[in-house]
Amino acid sequence: MKKNKSRRSFIKKAALGTAAFGGAPYIIASKGNKEILLKREYLLQEHTANDNINLALIGSGIQGIYDTSTALKVAGVKLVAVCDLYSGRLARAKELWGNDLFTTRDYREILSRKDVDAVIVATPDHWHKKITIDALNAGKAVYCEKPMIQKFEEGAQIIEAQKRSKAICQIGSQGMSSLGNEKAKQLYEDGAIGDMVLLDMYNDRYSSEGAWQYPIPADANPQTVDFDTFLGNAPKHAFDTTRFFRWRNYKDYGTGVAGDLFVHAFSTLHYILDSKGPNRALSTGGLRYWNDGRDVPDVTLTFYDYSKTDTHAAFNASFRVNFIAGSGDGGGFRLIGTEGAMEVGQNSVTLIRSKLGKIPSNYSMIAYTEAEQ
Ligand SMILES: NC(=O)c1ccc[n+]([C@@H]2O[C@H](COP(=O)([O-])OP(=O)(O)OC[C@H]3O[C@@H](n4cnc5c(N)ncnc54)[C@H](O)[C@@H]3O)[C@@H](O)[C@H]2O)c1
Repeated sequence: MKKNKSRRSFIKKAALGTAAFGGAPYIIASKGNKEILLKREYLLQEHTANDNINLALIGSGIQGIYDTSTALKVAGVKLVAVCDLYSGRLARAKELWGNDLFTTRDYREILSRKDVDAVIVATPDHWHKKITIDALNAGKAVYCEKPMIQKFEEGAQIIEAQKRSKAICQIGSQGMSSLGNEKAKQLYEDGAIGDMVLLDMYNDRYSSEGAWQYPIPADANPQTVDFDTFLGNAPKHAFDTTRFFRWRNYKDYGTGVAGDLFVHAFSTLHYILDSKGPNRALSTGGLRYWNDGRDVPDVTLTFYDYSKTDTHAAFNASFRVNFIAGSGDGGGFRLIGTEGAMEVGQNSVTLIRSKLGKIPSNYSMIAYTEAEQ
């Protein structure tokens, strides 16, 4: 626990309901020993800057479209340009945001535009570092999708470029700005679950889409797809639409389950606990089902040891991603402590407060004399 507040102080705060979180929009429902804290509404307008912002999107695929659509809900934000390497994505951008949009296959044309204040970088992972650094050097504010980098050594270069340019650079792990995480952090620091014992994260997927087997457009060919630019610094490869549209499945462009999906669990966990990370890991897994040419596992289980710090007790974490769930899609992120547990979602936290049973129940009593019972 970060602050050594008493359980009584936590209960008092919880009883105050929404006031306990500075008037944040939560509804608290109770059921048995569970308290469910739900977001009432996420008001983007609360986060607007005063000035208008001209935005550009680099990498107009699935996440780029979600990010941009969210950004455009904020008053004063205008999308002026979009870059992508597949012409179908540029056509889709015009369908979504109008024919006046400037579109290009060369992101440098976006960075040289004086009217662009900020860029969203939502390309495959192997392009994040180069485009982010080029954008910072061009004086643009950057929102780069997670994972920040593809290779470990790239991180310091982005940090250095940000410090030099002094431009804003935010890495998009949306949990870092979710109300669920914020509320969970406050509850944890108030002692709601006592000392950390175990973190249990699982992400089960049971669909081709969930397993990163995205559709390949019928018109994808060397004229509509700029495959050579897509490769960037990755090893040379003959034109291959599967690699282009399902890049996540290849180590040359993506980061596998650990970089792509564990990153969300890590950012949430470390934010809530104010942790710098584990000191030991044991990982296993393999490619069990999706034998579609990919070279990354579809089942990964990793166990982490966290040492005691000023903000948390020593605990263990278990992360599991499984693309052949069998029983359907599902996920969970549960912090288990000495005085309860918290199930953390994007916009909700379910808190289970429980007292450890220390009085023997009927189970063991069968072996004791009546006098001892
Ligand atoms: N925060 C989240 O929950 C979340 C979810 C999904 C994806 N992501 C991240 O977003 C990024 C994009 O993932 P996606 O699922 O949208 O992939 P996607 O394949 O749907 O989109 C990527 C787009 O980038 C384009 N592209 C590739 N290289 C480019 C380049 N050099 N210049 C311009 N465009 C280029 C591709 O043509 C494609 O349209 C990844 O880094 C991924 O990890 C984050």
